[in-house]
Amino acid sequence: MSSAETDIYMDNAATSWPKPPAVLEAIQEFFANAGGNVGRSGHSRSIESSRRVSLARETLADLLGAETPDEVIFTKNATEGLNLAILGLAPEGGRIVTTSLEHNSVMRPLRHLEEAGRCTLEIVRADGNTGEIDLEEWSAAIRRGGWCLAVATHASNVTGALLPIEAMAHRAAAEGVPMVVDASQSAGHLPLDVVALGASAVAMPGHKGLLGPSGTGVLYLAPHVDVPPLIRGGTGSQSELETQPDFAPDKYESGTLNAMGIVGLGAGARYLSEVGVDAVYARLTELTRRFRDGLAQAEGIVVYGPDDPAASIGIVSVNVEGIPCATVSRFLDDESRIMTRAGLHCSPAAHRSLGTAPEGTVRFSWGFDTIEEEIDVAVAALRNIAARRAEAAGVVG
Ligand SMILES: Cc1ncc(COP(=O)(O)O)c(C=O)c1O
Repeated sequence: MSSAETDIYMDNAATSWPKPPAVLEAIQEFFANAGGNVGRSGHSRSIESSRRVSLARETLADLLGAETPDEVIFTKNATEGLNLAILGLAPEGGRIVTTSLEHNSVMRPLRHLEEAGRCTLEIVRADGNTGEIDLEEWSAAIRRGGWCLAVATHASNVTGALLPIEAMAHRAAAEGVPMVVDASQSAGHLPLDVVALGASAVAMPGHKGLLGPSGTGVLYLAPHVDVPPLIRGGTGSQSELETQPDFAPDKYESGTLNAMGIVGLGAGARYLSEVGVDAVYARLTELTRRFRDGLAQAEGIVVYGPDDPAASIGIVSVNVEGIPCATVSRFLDDESRIMTRAGLHCSPAAHRSLGTAPEGTVRFSWGFDTIEEEIDVAVAALRNIAARRAEAAGVVG
């Protein structure tokens, strides 16, 4: 039976676990002392709930470097924010430039637009070995002319490879091309300044690096961006109007908010501000270095992604030669209680770039709570699986 003491959770790229105690405390405290609907009623529980959600919005705005809290829109995950931004900014009859590292939360809306004949797609391919994107190729694709939108992930969710996102966004801006950034694997893992980035929209989950609960996400929309909402309805503001408010964030936040989730997310963001996101990045980099060093020259184990741990973000994908990745992941769980994710990670294009499609890889991803001993156990377990396979095949021993 699983227990928090024996579990080695290495699936933080799917969702972070555990959450800092402050997140759980904030959620409990919300129910005890607030618990009303946000922005809906004049009684004290509703006012308290609104106040706590506003505080969370301010904390997120500070953490992300937004100029005002109204630029922070709460969504239910990164996918919702990505859809809102991509569908809203898609150039009708124009081109969308993206990369081969995108998650299906980006690829599927893009393919939908393409199939509907609304845009053409241009995909800049990542390097097959390192997973890196060539900046010159990116710039050339953007400069090819026509009404254009750029969409790119900040970090690959398969290898953790960081893209040169600031340079990519600046080159898009220099051509007057709006850009949507998918910060799903970077938000909370390395310092992010949305104003310096200069993108029109930056979408992120609340439940991964930002340490909030599931059901939360954030979309940063630059103040000049005005796109249609995905859904329309009650916001608690301008109730006399039968049309949608035209100001952010209300325009994009119809229906009762996930207040407890947002309050938990706010506590996660506060925790990160206290610890320092640069310290989180340094920590994740150190853990990646330890893991990669531990697997150096390991017989029968292939490690994907950038060699330099600082060029990635707390994620490493591997394969054990001759054993399907799903079996390796199951062995790790059954024998050592190490939790990983095997397969394509909702990013088939990224796996095609790496040459790991259609089976995929075993993905390890660390969090703020991962410790060195756990990395060492994971390295030993992987080496053990590879050695057993080699023995069974008569390669060694
Ligand atoms: C790069 C990337 N983009 C988007 C998503 C989607 O995030 P969510 O499940 O919060 O919508 C993920 C989740 O794994 C991701 O890794």
